[in-house]
Amino acid sequence: MKLDPVFLVAIAGAALAAGCSSNADSPGLEYMPDMYRSPAIEAYVDYGQDPYYFGDSLARAQRATSSARLPVEGTIPFADQEADAAFNFPFPYPNTPEGYDQAGKEAHSPIPMTEATVEQGKKIYDVFCIQCHGAKGQGDGTVVAKGNYPPPPAYDGNQLKNLPEGQIFHAITYGRNIAMGSHASQLNHKERWLVVQYVKYLQNGGKMPGEQTAMETAAATAQAQ
Ligand code: HEC
Repeated sequence: MKLDPVFLVAIAGAALAAGCSSNADSPGLEYMPDMYRSPAIEAYVDYGQDPYYFGDSLARAQRATSSARLPVEGTIPFADQEADAAFNFPFPYPNTPEGYDQAGKEAHSPIPMTEATVEQGKKIYDVFCIQCHGAKGQGDGTVVAKGNYPPPPAYDGNQLKNLPEGQIFHAITYGRNIAMGSHASQLNHKERWLVVQYVKYLQNGGKMPGEQTAMETAAATAQAQ
């Protein structure tokens, strides 16, 4: 059968006319609209219903509604290991002289001090603290030596030797006076308690509690003889 050219032109014209829309933003007749407008999902936006089916105003209202919300105040992040859950509890001592005092009396590390945890703490210390406090905690880091920065007191000196672990944690969390800033945004609670282990090790003259230095051992042996 041979189609009449006039008939073909009429069909093409009808298709063109049907594909037009008065909305300048509309691509016109859409064949399989899902393929034109794939749902691009972004966080915090509720895409709701497809405006193609439900109308622009409903879709716009849904898009203006936030989907993910801030957790309720006091929410404690979930931890699947029970041992880790303790780290997610807030540090209840505020950044005040009273909070500092109280932390010294009440706050204790949930991490037992072993050579392994001291070693983990040292790794953190060597990244975040060594530049001011120095490798052995003598307050002689490169920032102090080269930067004309006020030297922190030595950990094993009179001022800090007996500083309780709760106050070490407090100082890391809030900073201390003007010279030391807060490390709360760099270190989570677990990392803070780990670095506390290494500070305790340095307070004790760079050895585990109860452990003697080589010199002390030699002196004790000499005395015993
Ligand atoms: C920018 C240099 C700087 C960095 C980095 C720094 N500190 Fe300090 N820190 C100081 C200074 C200075 C002081 C003395 C502040 C004062 O007593 O006025 C101090 C004091 C302290 C004290 C004594 C707090 C007290 O209660 O008296 C502790 C403990 C301590 N720092 C631990 C750390 C640990 C752990 C880190 C790493 C996570 C660290 N600091 C990082 C400069 C620094």
